[in-house]
Amino acid sequence: MQIIDGKKVAAEVKAEIRAEVDRLTAAGQRAPQLAAILVGDDGASQTYVAGKEKACAECGFRSQVLRFAGTLTEAALLAAIARLNADDEVDGFIVQLPLPPHISEQKVIEAIDPAKDVDGFHPVNVGRMTIGLPAYVSATPAGIVELLRRYRIPTAGKRCVVLGRSNIVGRPMMNLLSQKGDPGDCTVTLCHSRSRNIKELCLAADIIVAALGKPEFLTADMVKEGAVVIDVGITRTPAPEAKSGFRLKGDVRYDEVAPKCSYITPVPGGVGPMTIVSLMKNTLKAYKNNG
Ligand code: GUN
Repeated sequence: MQIIDGKKVAAEVKAEIRAEVDRLTAAGQRAPQLAAILVGDDGASQTYVAGKEKACAECGFRSQVLRFAGTLTEAALLAAIARLNADDEVDGFIVQLPLPPHISEQKVIEAIDPAKDVDGFHPVNVGRMTIGLPAYVSATPAGIVELLRRYRIPTAGKRCVVLGRSNIVGRPMMNLLSQKGDPGDCTVTLCHSRSRNIKELCLAADIIVAALGKPEFLTADMVKEGAVVIDVGITRTPAPEAKSGFRLKGDVRYDEVAPKCSYITPVPGGVGPMTIVSLMKNTLKAYKNNG
């Protein structure tokens, strides 16, 4: 069993990006810039955005965070998006989700210029990715593909089960793994809350991507010997002994599943660090495309 070290790979990718940015700036070019819009005071969102700012600094990017109160109107948010769309110094930006319930997330996503949509959430990018055209790909599935590539995990012809049908992870993951290429060429089954026989489907899988947000959902009796298990879950569960008051729990019961696997990602330190790195890669791509 080999643990897939997302933290290590993420550090390698960031160093590669940094080297490229240093070359660009040494040649007199401006540094890439990522902006983030943060609405309200959700703790997890603040942590994620802080992580993105830190990664920007490590990659030599400029970054800015536009913080708004949770009472911000939808119109004011759309106006802020229009300003970032028009700002030539901003290569890409994200609107951190979730948004307060009075704001339509879909309207907001569709207001972002697809050329600056480094989260890959705009329907234009989702559509382009789905038919295999160049696109900004949602950061978590892109990070998982990068891990499979860097660990040279064979995917062609493999049976893959994706657990969870979210727009951000499950569906793009299904598309990417079924596409022609390496990584890719998998036979993919997408499972969701109405699926039947999930255990049997998982037991037949060579690769399982667990992205349903249910702590410790995937247990040893659902995994065949030698499977590759990718855990996307990051549910915060109360832990009074921890400094933060919580611990991150994956969707996999790691202790009992890991011994059966050929490869497995831990939580934390697996998929999470790769998600932020994918956002950095998308930002550098936007800088090159739009520059
Ligand atoms: N909320 C949870 N994950 C994400 C993400 O990848 N991007 C944005 N914008 N919001 C999120």
